[in-house]
Amino acid sequence: MSLNSNWTVEQRYCRVEQISQDSMDAMVKQRKQDSGYPSYHIAPKFGLLNDPNGLCYFNGEHHIFYQWTPVGPVHGMKYWYHLSTKDFVHFEDHGIGLHPDQDYDSHGVYSGGALVENDEAILFFTGNHRDENWERSSTQCVAKMSVKGQIEKHGVVIENEHYTEHFRDPKVWKDGDDYLMVVGAQTQEKRGSMALYRSRDLMNWQHKGSIQTRYNNLGYMWECPDFFEIDTQSVMLFSPQGISSDNPYDFKNIYSVAYIVGDCLNLDSMEFENHQDIAQPDYGFDFYAPQTYLDDSGRRILIAWVGLPDIDAPSVAHQWAGMLSLPRELKIQDGYLVQSALPESKALQGEAVVVENTLELNTTSFMIEIETGADKFEFTLANAAGENIVFSATETEFMLDRSKMSQLYAEEFGCVRKAPRLSVEQTIEVYVDKSVIEIFINGGKHTMTSRFFIDDLKLLSIAGDMEAVYHSMSSIKGLDE
Ligand code: FRU
Repeated sequence: MSLNSNWTVEQRYCRVEQISQDSMDAMVKQRKQDSGYPSYHIAPKFGLLNDPNGLCYFNGEHHIFYQWTPVGPVHGMKYWYHLSTKDFVHFEDHGIGLHPDQDYDSHGVYSGGALVENDEAILFFTGNHRDENWERSSTQCVAKMSVKGQIEKHGVVIENEHYTEHFRDPKVWKDGDDYLMVVGAQTQEKRGSMALYRSRDLMNWQHKGSIQTRYNNLGYMWECPDFFEIDTQSVMLFSPQGISSDNPYDFKNIYSVAYIVGDCLNLDSMEFENHQDIAQPDYGFDFYAPQTYLDDSGRRILIAWVGLPDIDAPSVAHQWAGMLSLPRELKIQDGYLVQSALPESKALQGEAVVVENTLELNTTSFMIEIETGADKFEFTLANAAGENIVFSATETEFMLDRSKMSQLYAEEFGCVRKAPRLSVEQTIEVYVDKSVIEIFINGGKHTMTSRFFIDDLKLLSIAGDMEAVYHSMSSIKGLDE
């Protein structure tokens, strides 16, 4: 039984003002004793982090919000926690950005995106409300952030007239003179869908209906939708629930992330025109609710939650849960979304060390660049007792095996994930940070993002014909207590 099943609803929905300083101090103390707490990934100082929210480049900085439950490492009362950075090395901690302090968001300020206009960042979020019978009603709401960083709510802009109670996670962009919004929704037929709304003024929104694709029957709910253009193509990105696949690779996690590349959205027919087959960006164990935004240099940047709903990672014993992925730049190549770690992360890299067979680790925050043309290879992270996680490849497949970790969890969803190997000759980047591994395979056409738990991680070893170059990674700054 998971630690978290002991929490009552009242405990989960405890507000931040009701948490004593002693309790917060105790959680921070526990978290600081956790050797799995990352140093160059964003994680909560205590409590639970889930989706990235309100990502935007505004007033000379990247702004990152995330879903945060302060009371403990559980899903409960959700806030938006706010950070900003100019360079992804130095961060400013702004504390809570949005509180659940209105009737319409009485049970949580749920996920959403941001739109930058003139001198404001406009934040769209879902007001999650429950009545005395625990019946949920969801509305799409707006807040505005000024250049001084002041955030003010402006209330509900969309009531739910078309979907079930599952209606959340607005993402807005500008389209000519109009604004468009996608919302993750469940249709009355209990199907996942991406609902589209249109507005001239950001306050009055007209329901256009669900975006039409060949996948109108895929799963029972699509969370965290995103819709964007790269070059001349359009991309639907979303987190579907209730989907599976017979092939050995796709949709093996409790909930999934998928994307569809197409030509464009026809606003008359609502068809996503000339679209390709659905694809999966990540083949690891823990990747969910990604969101993207454009920065000042025109880069489309993606950040995901390294975690999944309904799964408790062992870090809950240390009073924290969830972290954000590294920010990744997106491109499109051969119909695939291609992800690469932002070059800013190079500033964290230490000197290059060539790895021959085995390397005794003096830090567990590092990255490795592997160049290989070998049919088979193996990359192992282990402790002295031989507990390990293994990333390996055959000519046609990659495999990530976490069946021999010190602390196993979510085994009911399997301990191995596989991804297709698109070519034998490859440069692969592996980012390791205490208890998270992000592997960029197939030239970034896929990633494998996962948590892992090995006590006293000490050894890295490689087998097979490859060149592997190691760099330690230093901590990001500004987020410590
Ligand atoms: C996805 C999600 C969203 C929702 C938020 C609540 O992980 O369930 O759909 O807005 O988390 O925290």
